[in-house]
Amino acid sequence: MAAPRGEFTSRFGFLMAASGSAVGLGNIWGFPTNAASNGGAAFLFTYLILAFALAYPALMAELIIGRYARANAVTALRTISSGNKTRLAALLVGFIGIVTVSFILSFYGIVSGWMIAFFFDPIARLLGASQLSAWLTNDAVMRNSLFVVLFMLVTIYIISAGVKEGIEKWASRLMPSLIVILLLLIVYVLTLPGAMDGLRAYLVPDFSLIADPSLLVDAMGQAFFSLSLGVGTMLIYGSYISSNENLPTIGSLVALLDVGIAVMAGMLILPAMYVALASGVEIYDDAGGLIAGPGLIVSVLPSLLTTMGAIGVFVAIAFFALMTIASLTSSISMLEVPVAYAVEHHELERRRAAMLIGSAITVISLVIVFNFDPLFDLVVTVTTEVSQPLLGFAFCIFAAWIWQRSEILEEIKQGCPEVESGIFWKIWPFYVKFICPVAILVVYFQ
Ligand code: PFF
Repeated sequence: MAAPRGEFTSRFGFLMAASGSAVGLGNIWGFPTNAASNGGAAFLFTYLILAFALAYPALMAELIIGRYARANAVTALRTISSGNKTRLAALLVGFIGIVTVSFILSFYGIVSGWMIAFFFDPIARLLGASQLSAWLTNDAVMRNSLFVVLFMLVTIYIISAGVKEGIEKWASRLMPSLIVILLLLIVYVLTLPGAMDGLRAYLVPDFSLIADPSLLVDAMGQAFFSLSLGVGTMLIYGSYISSNENLPTIGSLVALLDVGIAVMAGMLILPAMYVALASGVEIYDDAGGLIAGPGLIVSVLPSLLTTMGAIGVFVAIAFFALMTIASLTSSISMLEVPVAYAVEHHELERRRAAMLIGSAITVISLVIVFNFDPLFDLVVTVTTEVSQPLLGFAFCIFAAWIWQRSEILEEIKQGCPEVESGIFWKIWPFYVKFICPVAILVVYFQ
């Protein structure tokens, strides 16, 4: 007999879990650097429009399908399909989602491992262990392997404990801490010399870039990645929401939290980069752009932190704690997707499923660590730039073209009886049916 399905016990628990999935390295690292290299506030402006006009409707599609079917992505998409061909397509999309999210987790785990290593570095320095500190900050296969394994073990541990005792409990502890640390860091960094130049680079728009196709593509990719869309994460979290919950409202709260924290992260990272510049740290790459890749987190910011003296040690601990928490609340949502499928479809016990699948993903991570140059960028590009938008497109098609409109309405009405007369129902069905799929494809083929 399969164990009964888990459910979030409160709105707060769901909000912390879903915004925990959404808020990750994509917000704190990806968003600010994307903004900096795409015309500052011009990117912010485009991002806000795309996040609410494209990503929010797609997020709602996943949440509604999930809660209706109360099942993993494969079963859920099959439940809303009728006819053999659409059921086959459902199987395919569900599976590609599971494979995609597993590969996203495999590279995400590596980067998260770096964050843990950099979290321990200031502690090692505080204890005077300079050799350990050098080992922790030196990019090497051994260090990367150990820390990805450590990170994956924590992820497996939380997912093994289930929806209430694992995901909800940990997200409810970690997300409020993340917000507090982020606010404290912003306040501190903004008092340092050079910070205002960073704020200017972030918030003063260069509108000449707004029609630039690469800005649109980056902004859409960022919005989809940031809201964890297309791969069944939000669908599976939606399947654990109580029927009394008002879906349009909680969906918009998740989107607002995600966008809000990304915007706030920009107020930390860009000022910090310009503070680094003012202290003599190089923040531009050879092509004259801001350093945005791994160099930003593992070289520019640590160099800045070492120029800060004693206080830099505590700022470093806080910053890398922030990054680790953000990664962890996202990684648990990723592992939940294949685990829920294995538990529900193959009646595997949750702990066993988490252990087996988590270990398999860790092995993929290790293969990437050992073959970093050919594999890392490839996996990132295929999963986030090719697979994720196409899956987002497919989810919109399932929600709007395959699933019956009356059933969608009934589902939303459970927790929001007045939905039919509200603005959401006037706009959303049309949006997911026409605007989202077309816009996703247009931007994708740009
Ligand atoms: N939303 C996460 C971030 O912004 O870092 C990344 C992510 C989480 C992508 C979960 C996909 C996913 F299923």
